[in-house]
Parts: sequence; structure tokens; C-alpha cells
Amino acid sequence: MDALEAIFNRKSVRNFTGEDVPDDKLQILLRAGMSAPSAVNMQPWEFILIKDKGTLQAMADNLPYAAMMQKAGACIVVCAIPELAHRKLKEYAIIDCTCASENILIAVEALGLGAVWSAVYPNIDRIEFVRKLLGIPRSIIPLNAIAIGIPTGEDQPKDKFKPEKIHYEKW
Ligand SMILES: Cc1cc2nc3c(=O)[nH]c(=O)nc-3n(C[C@H](O)[C@H](O)[C@H](O)COP(=O)(O)O)c2cc1C
Repeated sequence: MDALEAIFNRKSVRNFTGEDVPDDKLQILLRAGMSAPSAVNMQPWEFILIKDKGTLQAMADNLPYAAMMQKAGACIVVCAIPELAHRKLKEYAIIDCTCASENILIAVEALGLGAVWSAVYPNIDRIEFVRKLLGIPRSIIPLNAIAIGIPTGEDQPKDKFKPEKIHYEKW
């Protein structure tokens, strides 16, 4: 699959078969995340790979809009590290980790898997819950929990192209 095909076909997948995701594909996803651009190449990120069914279930039970975790084969929590970011700014850490997350989502599509970004940041309660569940230090911000699995095929990409959203030369 070429890059444009993966970008245009990427969609949030919330219906998984419940099968496991092969380890070699999960490693490719982590590599894709770390290939993202970051301000001054600071790479202010770390990743938590979760396959434990109990932990996936706990996220399904406690994060709103994350019921799909129940049948996900895995989850990647993208963690932002403000201390490592350009000018130690939280904003750069979040932007950089968002780039890493999108890389993971596109790579998921390219590998024939399915995934959805489950929101953690900026909701304080969700951040606290995920920190406690996964033992994440207070200085580190869990940005999201990306549910990953084998898609059932029910979820389809949306055409979101709107020419009226483009300005040429001036606003
Ligand atoms: C910051 C952010 C937070 C999101 N949080 C959730 C979430 O908690 N649960 C969920 O099912 N989808 C979540 N999504 C996925 C969006 O709902 C989805 O991207 C949007 O509806 C567009 O659909 P598409 O991804 O299929 O193009 C989130 C996406 C982003 C970028």
C-alpha cells in the first residue's frame, strides 16, 4: 500500500474481531511512531505497549468512549515528556506526540490493522486514571490510548475533503 492510499483509507476502527495483533506488526507501529517529526528533533515521547487483557478491560471500563478496548488486541499509550521537549514546553511535547500518534494510525492502516485514538489528554480525570493504572510518573503526560486490533470490516473511511476550507494566497 502506498502512503496516499494509507492516508485516504485511514479511519477510526472501533469494531475488532478480538484476535491478537502479531508482535512484529506492533514493533513496526512503534517504529512508525518514533519516525515522526518533532520540534528541534527532541523526540519528547515514550510509548507503553499493552497486550494484557485485564489492562485493556480496565481502560474499556474506566475511559469514556473506549469500549472498543474490550476487543482490541493491543493498545499503545503515547506519553509526552515536557522535560525533554524543545524549550521544555508542554505544548511542544503534545504537538510532537500528536505527530507520532498520527504516524501510528497511518501505519496501522498500511498493515491492514484497525485503530482508534481514545482520548486521555487534556482531561485531568483520564490522565490521573491512566497514570495510576500504568504507573506513569507525574512529570509525564499520557496523551492518548490507541486501541489496535484486527478490524471486522464494519468501519469505513469518510470523505472529509471540503474545497471551501482552502484559502488561496490570503484568508
Ligand atoms: C484528540 C482526539 C480524541 C479522540 N477521542 C476519541 C475517543 O475517546 N473515543 C473514540 O471512539 N474516538 C476518539 N477519537 C476519534 C475521532 O472520533 C475520529 O477521528 C473522528 O470521528 C473522525 O473519524 P475518522 O477517524 O474515522 O476519520 C478521537 C480523535 C482525536 C484526534
